Order: sequence, then structure tokens, then C-alpha cells
Amino acid sequence: MTDIKTMGQQLGRRSWAEPWKIKMVEPIHMTTAEERLRAMQESGYNTFLLKSDDVYIDLLPDSGTSAMSDRQWAGMMLGDEAYAGSRNFYHLEAAIQEYYGYRFIVPTHQGRGAENLISQAAIKKGQYVPGNMYFTTTRLHQELAGGIFTDIIIDEAHDSQSLHPFKGNVDLDKLRALIAKVGAAQIAYISLAGTVNMAGGQPVSMANVRELRALCDQHGIRIYLDATRMAENSFFIQEREEGYADKPIAAILKEFCSYTDGAWMSAKKDNLVNIGGWLALNHEDVFESARNLVVVYEGLHTYGGMAGRDMEAMAIGITESVQDDHMRARIGQVRYLGDLLTQWNIPIVQPVGGHAIFLDASRFYAHLPQSAFPGQTLAAELYLDSGVRAMERGVVSAGRDPQTGDHRYPRLELTRLTIPRRVYTQAHMDVVAESVKAVYDQRERSRGLEMIYEPQYLRFFQCRFKPL
Ligand code: F0G
Repeated sequence: MTDIKTMGQQLGRRSWAEPWKIKMVEPIHMTTAEERLRAMQESGYNTFLLKSDDVYIDLLPDSGTSAMSDRQWAGMMLGDEAYAGSRNFYHLEAAIQEYYGYRFIVPTHQGRGAENLISQAAIKKGQYVPGNMYFTTTRLHQELAGGIFTDIIIDEAHDSQSLHPFKGNVDLDKLRALIAKVGAAQIAYISLAGTVNMAGGQPVSMANVRELRALCDQHGIRIYLDATRMAENSFFIQEREEGYADKPIAAILKEFCSYTDGAWMSAKKDNLVNIGGWLALNHEDVFESARNLVVVYEGLHTYGGMAGRDMEAMAIGITESVQDDHMRARIGQVRYLGDLLTQWNIPIVQPVGGHAIFLDASRFYAHLPQSAFPGQTLAAELYLDSGVRAMERGVVSAGRDPQTGDHRYPRLELTRLTIPRRVYTQAHMDVVAESVKAVYDQRERSRGLEMIYEPQYLRFFQCRFKPL
């Protein structure tokens, strides 16, 4: 693992310090242990059901939680709130074309809106959708469109201790085997994600996407990219892949996208806005279907559920998100937290990825079976200890198999400390690390949880538990 000093030396600088200063602050409030216990009981031990007023440091997601820049706020004042043809849409379209390189753009209210459109437009019932590990909302939309998701990520991704530098890579042999078994015509498209979320924010290499492109060209299969954290992925290519050290993140991002046929985006992450998303495509046929579907599900094809001001803020956010200094500070902060925890021998997914520290709950609570929801238990214990809010990424998130109805037991049973962009300080990271350590020191006292309410879709958002 690259430590912070080595990273600084490699880049010829001393620190990952942020390339901005703070102009406006938002007070947060601290709670007592009794208040937290009451809040946790009322929330059914699910951190998604907490009120944010009861949270001290909020590491639930990095989604929609970024701090916008003064330029972005200035852009909000330039919102053209016309129903059709808002000028801000054309700014956004131009920014996506310039930095991601795709031809046709369909705006959506957030990432899952775009996932719905691409799934409806490009999957025929019964087709396979191979991907480098599932993501919750992505797979659900693929399944709702009649697709069958198939995991083709390399085995190392499922091992929290493998130090493979590109654990997000596609295993091309797994894809070849699937093509041989079902035939290329039965494959809707490849669902490729940058910095694979459920694997711990692990990147895909340029060599891998290039080889994937060549293989797909042989079989006439399209590749669609989940570009949600693709700017972060580009940082890892710059840092780890031969030939990219001197290339700017913006150039790496554009090259990567050039090997794919389109992308969907949750702009609430990399693009530094609080709401928004998009679908971008190179082929006119899919674009036409998606542009038609967007008026059914999202809004007109020049706003897709966003206000004009949101699109302006996003256009500016895109240009900021690909700045090398921004990304160095962003990932530097995540690593700072990871290094503290590693020094204290707390089990986390290695190497540290782009957007979060993933605590390895199955090793943290070695005495708990996966059926007692160790990842969920750890998120609850952290909140009870300090008011830090984390999220489960294990058996609860994985949901049930639609065919058998059984729990899906993923090999990775994790709790995610997700770092919002440009929001918290180094001192906040110290508090988080100290709280994780306090919970770790008392780990033997935890008994796990029992699920007492479970909704049909994406259960992790709304299910409830009680302590065992
Ligand atoms: N793809 C990835 C890789 C994501 O991480 C998310 C959201 C989406 C798609 C869906 O986008 O939320 O805008 O509808 N991830 C958040 C998370 C919620 O917590 O990781 P959305």
C-alpha cells in the first residue's frame, strides 16, 4: 500500500492538503449516549432510518453530500428554468461531451434514473448482463428489465486482503466462458463500473478495458460504463499503471471512456453536485429509445428531472472533478483514515479504494455468523459509540436471489465509512478512527442483529432489526 509520504514524494509535494479553503460552515451537533440509543432503537438499528440531526459525522454515502464550490453556487444563480431547451442543459451536454467524450446525452434525476433507461433500452427479457460485481440499484434495474446479472470480476475482488492494484478488473476468461455457454446474442451488454463500489472502491486498469473492448468487438457486444466514480478510477490509473504517470486525470478519463459505447452516471458522486444524473451514448439507436423513455420516467429530454440551476452546477462540477489537485486531496483524505486504522490493526479492505474505507466486518466480528448481520451490527455500534454514521455493505445489501428467494451471502461482509467530497476535515477523520478503535476494543460484547422487517426491493434502505 502506498503510504501518504511516498505518495507525496512521487508527486513531488509534501502533503495531500486540499486545494481550497472554507468560506461557509454548517454547524453539526453532538448527541449523548442516551440520545443515540433512543435514536437507534427508533430506527430499527438501520442507519438509513436515522434523522440526520441525530448524526455527528455523516459517512453514510458520498452521494449528494459533496460541498459545492463558490463557482458552482454562482452557477446556481444562472439557472434557466425553461421547461424546454434550458441553456444550462446545453452547458451540461457540452461538459459531458468534452470530458467523457460521448456523443448523445440524456439527463436524469440521479443515477438510478439513468440505470432504468439503459436497462429498458438495451436488455431483452432473458438476456445476460455480465458485470464487474453487482451494484444494488444497477442490478435491480437490470433484473426488472428481464436481464440476468452475471459476475465476471476477477477473483481477487472478493478477497478483502488481496493487494492486486486493479481489483475492479474484468476476468476475460469468465466472460469468454459465458459467451461460449450462452452465445453473444444472449448478452445484452457488458455492465462495467469504475472504482467498483461493492469491492471497496477498487479500480479497473486501462489495459483491462482495452482488452475487454477487443474481445467485445470480436463478438459484437457493447460496453456500457457506470461512470459514477470514474474520475477517481482515473487517479488510480495515473498512480499505478505504466505509461500514465504524466497524463492528466482528464485525459485518462477520456481515453477510458473511449473504449466504451456509453455510460450512466450518478452525478451526486464524482460530479460534485447534490442531485442529478445522466446517460450518455454513442449509438443513435439506443439514444433514441432512451430519449423517448426519459419523458415517461424522468422529465423532458432537456432536463430529465433536474432544475436548470442543478444542470449548471453539474457542468461546473464536472470541470472541477477532473482536476489533478482535487483528486489527490480527495483520495489523500480517504487514505489518511485508512492508514490510521491500518496502524491500529483494524481489519479493512486493502488496498484502500477511492471513496470510502470498508471495514471488514467478518474479521472485525470473527465470532458472529453472517446470518447475525455483522456489517449491520458494526454500523449500529459505531453510531452508538460516537454518532458517526456508516452503512452496511454485506448480506443485507446483497438482498435475496429472485429465483430461490434465499439471502445472497456475499464473500465480502463490510461496513462502509464513505467520505463526502470537500466536507470533513482531518480532525473529523481522527474522531472517526478513534471511534472505530473504541468499538473494535469492545468487539466481543456484540451479539449481532435479527431482521424483523424486510421490504421487497433494495431492502437495506428500509429494513429493521433488533439486537440478538
Ligand atoms: N452506481 C453506483 C456505482 C453507485 O454507487 C450508485 C449509488 C448508483 C449507481 C446509483 O445512483 O444513487 O444517484 O441513484 N450509490 C450510492 C451509494 C447511493 O451509497 O453508494 P443514484
